[in-house]
Amino acid sequence: MCSRGNNVTINIRLILSFGVRAVKTLIVYAGRHGCTQKCAEMLAAQAPGGITLANLQKCQADPSGYDTVIIGGSIRMGKIQKETATFCRAYLSQLLEKKVGLFLCCANAAAVAAQLQAAFPAELLAAARAVEHLGYAYYFEKMNFLERAIVKKIAGVDRTVENISRAGIDRLSAALFGGSG
Ligand SMILES: Cc1cc2nc3c(=O)[nH]c(=O)nc-3n(C[C@H](O)[C@H](O)[C@H](O)COP(=O)(O)O)c2cc1C
Repeated sequence: MCSRGNNVTINIRLILSFGVRAVKTLIVYAGRHGCTQKCAEMLAAQAPGGITLANLQKCQADPSGYDTVIIGGSIRMGKIQKETATFCRAYLSQLLEKKVGLFLCCANAAAVAAQLQAAFPAELLAAARAVEHLGYAYYFEKMNFLERAIVKKIAGVDRTVENISRAGIDRLSAALFGGSG
C-alpha cells in the first residue's frame, strides 16, 4: 500500500497558518505475512505531520523530499526481503543525509544482531537514529504447507502467535518523532 491519507491537506494547512513546513516522513517496508506491515502501520499512527507508507513489494518509493525515513523488513531463512535491501543500496547516499530509523521483524532472538548486520548496509546502521527489533509473528492461516512445516520444525510453533514489541515501536517513535533534532 502506498498512501498519503489526509496528511497532505494537513501539511498545506500548516504552511498557510504558520509559514512553517511540516516534517515529512516516509515509511517503507517489505514482508511476507503481515507482521512487518503491522509494525509499519503502528509507527505511521505515531508519526506527526505528513506520512507516506509504502509497501516496496507493491510500489516504488523515493526518499527525496522526506526529512525522516523508516525502513523495515523481516527475515526468512536468514535473509531480509530483496526489496528492502535494494531500496537501502539504491538510496544509500541520500539516506545518510536524513533522519533514519531501521527495524526488523524476526523470531530468532539469539540471531538478531547478526541478522541486522546482514540486512542493512553497515554505514546505514551506524548513521541511523534508531535501530529496533520489533518482534515477530507467525500467522499460520497465511502460510503455505512448507512454511508451516518449517516453523513447526525450527521454532516448535504450530499455531498463530503474535509477539510485536510495543516498547520497540515506542522507542523508535520517540527517537524519530519525539524531539526537535
Ligand atoms: C519460512 C520462515 C522462515 C523464517 N526464517 C527466519 C530466520 O531465518 N530467522 C529469524 O529470526 N526468523 C525467521 N522467521 C520468522 C519471521 O522473521 C517472522 O515470522 C516475522 O514476523 C515475519 O514477518 P512478515 O510476516 O512481515 O514477513 C521465519 C519465518 C518463516 C515463516
